[in-house]
Amino acid sequence: MPAIEYDSRVHVTRVADRRELAPGVILLGLEAPELVRATRPGQFVMAIPPAGESAATALGIYEAEGTRASLLFFITGKRTHELAELRVGEPLGLIGPLGNGFDLSSVPQRAAIVAGGVGIASVLLAAQALVRSGASVELLYGARTSELLVDAERFGEAGCELVLATDDGSRGRHGFVTELLGERPAPDLILACGPTPMLRAVGAIAAELGVPAQLSLEETFACGVGGCWGCVVPLARSSAQAPSFPPASRGGSDVVFARVCKEGPVFRSDELQW
Ligand SMILES: Cc1cc2nc3c(=O)[nH]c(=O)nc-3n(C[C@H](O)[C@H](O)[C@H](O)COP(=O)(O)OP(=O)(O)OC[C@H]3O[C@@H](n4cnc5c(N)ncnc54)[C@H](O)[C@@H]3O)c2cc1C
Ligand code: FES
Repeated sequence: MPAIEYDSRVHVTRVADRRELAPGVILLGLEAPELVRATRPGQFVMAIPPAGESAATALGIYEAEGTRASLLFFITGKRTHELAELRVGEPLGLIGPLGNGFDLSSVPQRAAIVAGGVGIASVLLAAQALVRSGASVELLYGARTSELLVDAERFGEAGCELVLATDDGSRGRHGFVTELLGERPAPDLILACGPTPMLRAVGAIAAELGVPAQLSLEETFACGVGGCWGCVVPLARSSAQAPSFPPASRGGSDVVFARVCKEGPVFRSDELQW
């Protein structure tokens, strides 16, 4: 009988530790040595909720060191609620690492990482890699309230300068995190992850400053592995990330649709046509 071939990106991991960082915000540590070995900064997994009734959900890979990876998530609906019920020792199925991740092939002198809300979960590995390669890294981190500015100190420990903002002024600057970006000395590279309006604002400021920016998009995923074309964004046809067989383009123009889960989730801001 032929051997059954398993996709090497499907992992059965085990919960190693679990902490509630703030009400409704969970940090889940996983024993996942193969995932750690394969992960690049900015990649994500599709986590399969244990009850088996809900579809998998996309989560950034927060930490990846030794044999332990972790996921940091906000409980927003059914799937994240099910994942939050997991306890130490229980198994969790993951597909990943998926997506392209950040392009850190050229090392900037000064990098700014802009994170909004849950976007913080996708940028720690990039921050660590940039600091290790000798860049000076600023984390500009914004959330609705001080309570929701979770784990900022972890970035301080990693060697980043922290610049914080909250919508209600309870910690850091009172206002949007993007306002900070415009006021600080211009970096050589901007990485960002957060809600779409924040990413659009980061892209506009980066264009004004003439600084390259890489944006990690938080589209809603169905399959998460490139099969359904349910997560597309308009992209310049000339982009190296343009898919080779796009099923649709916009008005026969220079714009094609790229899948955030497959060609992304990280795109150069000057190539997004939104
Ligand atoms: C590449 C990628 C990485 C992600 N990484 C993380 C992460 O590390 N941690 C984390 O907490 N979340 C992350 N997300 C978002 C997460 O996948 C969604 O919040 C997920 O839908 C939650 O599932 P649910 O069933 O609990 O909630 P759902 O029932 O799907 O949604 C509940 C609420 O959240 C809103 N929502 C759903 N999907 C998104 C989305 N993609 N972005 C913003 N709002 C959404 C809905 O409008 C609804 O109000 C990521 C998304 C992507 C695409
Ligand atoms: S979610 Fe199916 S192609 Fe991206």
